Amino acid sequence: MGVYHYKNSELHIEDVALSRIAAEVGTPVYCYSFKMLQDNYHALSKALRGAMPAQDFLIAYACKAGSNIALMKALGDEGAGADIVSGGELERAKAAGIPADKIVYSGVGKSRAEMAAALEYGIWQINVESVPELDLLSQTAAEMGKTVRIALRVNPDVHAGGHEKISTGRKQDKFGIDIEKAPEIYDYAAKLPGIEIAGAAMHIGSQIAENAPFKDAFARMATLVARLRASGHNISRIDIGGGFGITYKDEKPMDLESFAALVKEMIAPLGCQIILEPGRALVGNAGLLLSRVLYIKNCPSEGKIGAGERSFVIIDAAMNDLIRPTLYNAYHPLLPVREAAAGTPEHAYDIVGPVCETGDTFMTGEKLPEMKRDDLAAFMVSGAYGAVMSSYYNTRALVPEVLVKGNEYAVIRKRHDVADILAMEQFPNWLK
Ligand code: LLP
Repeated sequence: MGVYHYKNSELHIEDVALSRIAAEVGTPVYCYSFKMLQDNYHALSKALRGAMPAQDFLIAYACKAGSNIALMKALGDEGAGADIVSGGELERAKAAGIPADKIVYSGVGKSRAEMAAALEYGIWQINVESVPELDLLSQTAAEMGKTVRIALRVNPDVHAGGHEKISTGRKQDKFGIDIEKAPEIYDYAAKLPGIEIAGAAMHIGSQIAENAPFKDAFARMATLVARLRASGHNISRIDIGGGFGITYKDEKPMDLESFAALVKEMIAPLGCQIILEPGRALVGNAGLLLSRVLYIKNCPSEGKIGAGERSFVIIDAAMNDLIRPTLYNAYHPLLPVREAAAGTPEHAYDIVGPVCETGDTFMTGEKLPEMKRDDLAAFMVSGAYGAVMSSYYNTRALVPEVLVKGNEYAVIRKRHDVADILAMEQFPNWLK
């Protein structure tokens, strides 16, 4: 029996009926499976352990994908570290009990305050993405009387990733340091106070299903590491990033065993500690967004649809809760919570939210069993870049998050209140 399954015609996540969560917590609501999180972590860790000793690699969960502290702790308890990209995520990692020596800090725009907080906590490594960042980090560390272990994130000029907006490793992308220029920047870094060169880092994109772009990037990284060592630099760590693709509709997921074999063949011989930064592959299929139908507009069974008209299912979730469909044209399969009886007619629906934009559309012309008011439905595979990308747009309060384990569940983020939003705002003196 899978984590998601129908029992008594009701969709369950582990042993909890989604209708129970909807009744007790309300909708919309993000629901995660504790087991799926663990299974995802172990699948990757097992594939890597099949190729190299466990102490040779660290899986640093890219918590931007799903940064609720309970999700981070669940993965941390299995052995994961954290890849963070802001001072806010550092606080999350601390709150989740991720040890400092398992935290890697990536990102192109770290502020001085963020650097200082990371240095104070003594994190494992900062991945530096530009010369000005290197200068500021050196200055900050020196002023604090600390030495920071760094890797330069290099841009290997490889095209990878499931969507234009999430490809990061091409020359024209804002990320990393041009691999051609990296050697001279390492020489420069070596002379800076407060900086200790520890390794090299890369991350080429997200939702990558093939080994091929990794193979290209690994070859370039291996050449770079050899060159850096020949210049006398200590390269004892290599961060190979994340980006492992998963299945939303019919995409082939990343084959973890063959990926691990590639790492063994091309990266392990460098004799470095290997860091991986997966996000989506750990949480994507571990979460869903549960929503309720508010209205059916142009109900097909009433025969009211004229030529060229569409049948809209207006649900209580919207683009502010899950932005991926409108932002990336992403597909999240929608499952009815009550299993359709055999023979239920199917209709082509547009699934839309209440936000006042045509872009607030999750699916267009999707063939689904007939839906009616108050039905529940779940957008599957919404655990990654779902709740974390939500906003208050249209003054819609952030929805709760729930973590399911066996036959129990816990609210891991409470539903926000419009009062919470208003409490953050105030009138200027001259309007009082
Ligand atoms: N490491 C770095 C430096 C990254 O920038 C990212 C993702 C990751 C690791 C994790 O990548 P993953 O394993 O999750 O593919 N919002 C987009 C995805 C943006 C990814 C940004 N960087 C989406 O919803 O598809």
